Amino acid sequence: MSDTEAPPPLLRMTGISKSFPGVRALDAVDFEVGEAGIHAFLGENGAGKSTLLKILSGAQAPDSGTIELGGKTISFTSPQEAQANGIATIYQEFTLAPDMTIAENVFIGREPGSKLFINRKQLEAQTSALSKRIGLERKPDALVRDLSVAEQQMVEIARALSMQSRLIVMDEPTSALSRTEVEKLFEIIRALKREGISTIFVTHRLEEVFEICDCYTVLRDGRHVGTGSVADVTLDQIIRLMVGRELGLLAPREESYATGEVALAVKSLTRRRKASDASAIELHDVSFNVQKGEILGLAGLVGAGRTETARAIFGADTIDQGRILIDGQPVAITSPADAIAQGIQFFVECISV
Ligand SMILES: Nc1ncnc2c1ncn2[C@@H]1O[C@H](COP(=O)(O)OP(=O)(O)OP(=O)(O)O)[C@@H](O)[C@H]1O
Ligand SMILES: [Mg+2]
Repeated sequence: MSDTEAPPPLLRMTGISKSFPGVRALDAVDFEVGEAGIHAFLGENGAGKSTLLKILSGAQAPDSGTIELGGKTISFTSPQEAQANGIATIYQEFTLAPDMTIAENVFIGREPGSKLFINRKQLEAQTSALSKRIGLERKPDALVRDLSVAEQQMVEIARALSMQSRLIVMDEPTSALSRTEVEKLFEIIRALKREGISTIFVTHRLEEVFEICDCYTVLRDGRHVGTGSVADVTLDQIIRLMVGRELGLLAPREESYATGEVALAVKSLTRRRKASDASAIELHDVSFNVQKGEILGLAGLVGAGRTETARAIFGADTIDQGRILIDGQPVAITSPADAIAQGIQFFVECISV
């Protein structure tokens, strides 16, 4: 290698293709991850993200293509082999055994001690050290089935760390977490980065890309369509890459199907995610009316603010600016109880975990 040549990236996947009966899930995809970064892996549903990550983690074999780790070509035939090479994958459906303890799950198959005698003291001490490192406040002998989703995720992360992983792959880790849990997870991911551990992060919540990721890669219909630094891209550009066309704003409808009076008026609703950070805008100047008897659709891509708008109207999230009028009268909704008292109901899509 000459002096001017850059060192090989941590991970380089080249020309990866994979077909299932009737579907070309991946079509000659290239994917690269540099050192100690947080890499967003994006694309619409069915774009091929999980398939590529399963290939990376040894769970599925590619039809063609090569994988290099630190410049060395490798080929994994099992998840264990990928783990031995420093790649840990945390799927949305966890792979933990619910009736075993945290410690047993972290070190399953790799317990300290001899084949006949597991050194439980050492097992629990090592688990405690890992838990402390990521802020999991549970005893190592707690059963996994008693943990929250966020805590189970932390057990998965502890397991990844116990295997000295260099690259942790997280497939939609935030989709079942609350905002507070997401913030805690992000703290862990940032701490891992400081320790030199890279993360591949799949999310449909695009604002998270700008919150935590250094780089991004977008897949569309099984093809790689863009990669770059998050600092050099806008949300609109990422959405355009994902959907593959320009997104014009829809012209507001001139006439309305409903002709009655305005039941709900939302005026200039604005919400910052954190009061201290004016740049983290979740809703900006959202205004609309709903007439009596009208059905209003809120359309937009994931991350556009649809759920946030509904939550704000329902009092589930506080608003920084704006007003809500019901039957023309300003109302103060600061909690879901206030909203219910005003005759507003909120139905949430159920997530089963
Ligand atoms: N085991 C399988 N058998 C058949 N088709 C599959 C299989 N796994 C994935 N596919 C198909 O491959 C394509 C890519 O799926 P994949 O799960 O990789 O997408 P994704 O980007 O992870 O989507 P999502 O955001 O919904 O998780 C889809 O058309 C999917 O239906
Ligand atoms: Mg997926």
